[in-house]
Amino acid sequence: MQLSKPVQDAMNDQIQKELASAYLYLAMAAYFAESTLNGFAHWMRVQGREEMGHALKFFDYVHDRNGHVELAAIEKPLAKWTSPLAAFEAARKHEEKVSASIRAIYDLAVKEKDYASQALLQWFIVEQVEEEKTGREIVDTLKLIGDNRAGLFMYDKELGRRTGE
Ligand code: FEO
Repeated sequence: MQLSKPVQDAMNDQIQKELASAYLYLAMAAYFAESTLNGFAHWMRVQGREEMGHALKFFDYVHDRNGHVELAAIEKPLAKWTSPLAAFEAARKHEEKVSASIRAIYDLAVKEKDYASQALLQWFIVEQVEEEKTGREIVDTLKLIGDNRAGLFMYDKELGRRTGE
């Protein structure tokens, strides 16, 4: 069954959003690297690659359904945040917006009786639960650390152990 135009358009928008996420997290990786927080920088870099993977998952799926991929422009991300906590807060809020966007495509796929797209989107819905949970945990930990520089240093080391790259 050919991908319907509304679902195809929404998936093309989502490819843009996932690539914008990759771009945002790469900007955060640069901000952390320039703040000598190399563990946080590494974590963001891995996250950015994961987002690129999400974009490609939609990209491949649109083609698998004999659809057309049309890439949109990606906005310039911020280059600086006031603190590591502010950056991770922004990332957490960004993920909430991504989750809402995935849910909206799922609603559209239900409306279009597009069962295959619903199956793909269910994977993303579960993935977003994980991403939001991780974001919350990091934000909460950074709040606990507060102004404790030793604590920040230790946490930077911990996040630097993230695998995936
Ligand atoms: Fe691909 Fe973090 O949403």
